[in-house]
Amino acid sequence: MIGRLWSCLTLCLLAALIGSGQEARLNADFCSNFEDRPGRCIHYQRCPPIKAIVQRKRAGYELTQREPTFVCCEEEINDTGLAMLRNETECGKFSLAKVAHGQEVKMGSRPWMALLRYEGMAEGRSQFQCGATLISKRFILTAAHCMSREKPVSIRLGEHDLSTEVDCTMVGVGSQTRCQPPPEDIGIDRIIVHEGFPNNLTQNDIALIKLNRDVEYAAHINPICLPLNQQLQRDVRDQLVYRVTGWGRTESNAYSNVPREASVNRLLLQDCVAAYPRNAFAENQICTSSASQDSCSGDSGGPLLYAFRYFGQQRFVQTGIISYGPSQCGVGSSPGVYTDVGAFLPWITKQMAQA
Ligand SMILES: *[C@@H]1O[C@H](CO)[C@@H](O)[C@H](O)[C@H]1NC(C)=O
Ligand SMILES: *[C@@H]1O[C@H](CO)[C@@H](O)[C@H](O)[C@H]1NC(C)=O
Ligand SMILES: *[C@@H]1O[C@H](CO)[C@@H](O)[C@H](O)[C@H]1NC(C)=O
Repeated sequence: MIGRLWSCLTLCLLAALIGSGQEARLNADFCSNFEDRPGRCIHYQRCPPIKAIVQRKRAGYELTQREPTFVCCEEEINDTGLAMLRNETECGKFSLAKVAHGQEVKMGSRPWMALLRYEGMAEGRSQFQCGATLISKRFILTAAHCMSREKPVSIRLGEHDLSTEVDCTMVGVGSQTRCQPPPEDIGIDRIIVHEGFPNNLTQNDIALIKLNRDVEYAAHINPICLPLNQQLQRDVRDQLVYRVTGWGRTESNAYSNVPREASVNRLLLQDCVAAYPRNAFAENQICTSSASQDSCSGDSGGPLLYAFRYFGQQRFVQTGIISYGPSQCGVGSSPGVYTDVGAFLPWITKQMAQA
């Protein structure tokens, strides 16, 4: 424990020096603690778990004048926000979606998929520049960098084929068609970008969007689950294959009108460090191979996901948010980098509780 405390303390000494002792500046500093979980650099006395350790002097450790007093304090999951997420008992439900053409996702089988719409673009596909996911009736999860240049003006839910107004599909062997209700464009109440993102354009790439009204769940609009407990977070870490969904670019770099899904393999973070030597990394990021199949399916802000056992049932759980990746898709291209959703649950639950 002492060793861990020590490494935690040293991490923030650096930040304290850079911050030249100004409390306000230090408060804005985000760090990774000894377990590489996101935290804030604050005075140890404002961090209950560290304060408790230091106060247990009989544990044989005492801070001296010469030692840093700023620590990387991990934020805790907020119970109010956690209750809001746990309340989503219908999340992540999926049918066995036989995909029609290769990697195309069957209509209505990924009802948490959302698109961010930006103004000033021509009507049609180019209005939608980022993906996102529905995580509750009011909240959308996406990447912080989707807010960097321009802010989205609305969120599209229940979309399938961007080229048609009403989406229909053939069912059965006959020529029966089934159509789903039109997609909904929902206004934005607040955009909440992780406070640690503007300082460092490759980390803390996570944002929440609060919708201006509750959405009505339906077959084509339903939230995805998040890795809410430690068992799920362990399952996510042990999982070596994930899926990635989106309307992203195909191998020919043309956008797809319907969502596609591909498998990616989890790599060591070290593989991403080697591929992107100029960027900083922390264990709260996930590194994957680029899609081995004929497309790279994701959109920035869209999900990395997999079916896990979620409170006793098989459900799709979002494990990551697409942060950045290869500019060219296909076999042999650079790995993809994702924000680890489980590591940011303290942030997500806190923001949901106070928004
Ligand atoms: C849980 O859902 C019910 C029904 O939608 C709602 O009335 C209640 O306020 C929700 N609880 C939380 C903590 O969000
Ligand atoms: C991000 O922070 C790391 C140190 O934590 C630094 O090495 C890196 O240069 C920073 N990147 C940017 C884009 O500011
Ligand atoms: C959760 O967040 C809300 C809003 O910031 C706060 O009022 C509440 O005390 C927090 N709850 C816990 C258990 O931390």
